[in-house]
Amino acid sequence: MTNHTPRVFSGVKPSGGLQLGNYLGAIKRFVDMQGQDFEAIFCVVDLHAITVWQDPKELKAATREVTAGYLAAGIDPAKSVLFNQSQVPAHAELAWLFNCVARVGWMNRMTQFKDKAGKNAEKVSLGLYAYPALMAADILLYHATHVPVGEDQKQHVELTRDIAAKFNHDYGAEGFFPLPEPIIDGPATRVMNLRDGSKKMSKSGESDMERINMTDDADTIAKKFKKARTDPEPLPDTLEGLKGRPEARNLVDIYAGLSETSPEAVITEFAGAGWGKFKPALADLAVEKLGPISEEMARLMNDTVEIDRVLAQGAEKAEAIAQPILDQTYDIMGFLRSRKG
Ligand code: AMP
Ligand code: TRP
Repeated sequence: MTNHTPRVFSGVKPSGGLQLGNYLGAIKRFVDMQGQDFEAIFCVVDLHAITVWQDPKELKAATREVTAGYLAAGIDPAKSVLFNQSQVPAHAELAWLFNCVARVGWMNRMTQFKDKAGKNAEKVSLGLYAYPALMAADILLYHATHVPVGEDQKQHVELTRDIAAKFNHDYGAEGFFPLPEPIIDGPATRVMNLRDGSKKMSKSGESDMERINMTDDADTIAKKFKKARTDPEPLPDTLEGLKGRPEARNLVDIYAGLSETSPEAVITEFAGAGWGKFKPALADLAVEKLGPISEEMARLMNDTVEIDRVLAQGAEKAEAIAQPILDQTYDIMGFLRSRKG
């Protein structure tokens, strides 16, 4: 039971459209891993989306949009399992079991909950608080060993390890659940807001100018980078020179992420350049890289029959892996299971 085959799991919430941080910090990296020696499972985590209010009239469209993003970026349903979470009920079942493993003290340390709940902690949903246990269930339901995510999800993957270790220990099932590794690499694991370099770029920020949406057209992308906040200094000739300049650092990291180089290489190329030179170069690069993806997304989103078919097939494949692991978990915990043989 201790030797787990390498398996990747990751997810993106359909809580609005995809933004550049989702692409550089997550989906683009998933595509890179797909080519390696991993079995890969990618999920549109719709059960996570409803931890904050989602209009039922929009949830399906958002689910299809995230799916289109995965496909357009290069996730191939013949190579990876691609599905939406709510079509595999085992996620919700294992999450309940993990709610009884995770400790309240652990949940209280989750910084994302504190940030999201803010002063409103009494009014947010219980699901928002419990959400990391559902995320642990997503990962461990497949005995996944590697979890590529953006920097903001590191603590949740660490909690997943704690849940796995406590379960294995409490039930005398050493090695049953693997302790998955967070994979947080590359230059753009934390893409920042274009108007405020101290905040993460997100789907839900108040102004559209602070993020690049995966569906933005070329003119919009160029305009947003042109208006992105910077400082008056030109680009330095070493990475050190970007210290204390979060907006400048962010644009360099985005350039590195899109061009698949390192921030150091970008600095070497643009040492001494002013924003009047760098921003148009960044806009051109972004249009070149994102344009084909957004065109393909638009095409796919028009073909909802095909998207729904991909998700249904993916859910079947996911369930075939998940159900035996869920069944074993129930058995280990001692549930009476006379319906199943
Ligand atoms: P979410 O949209 O919150 O479901 O995030 C899906 C994935 O995208 C997770 O792995 C996040 O860590 C990643 N992600 C979201 N926003 C960013 C960002 N601004 N920079 C880097 N990664 C991000
Ligand atoms: N919590 C992640 C986010 O908000 C999304 C997510 C849900 C996830 N389940 C997951 C990521 C499992 C990796 C693995 O971004």
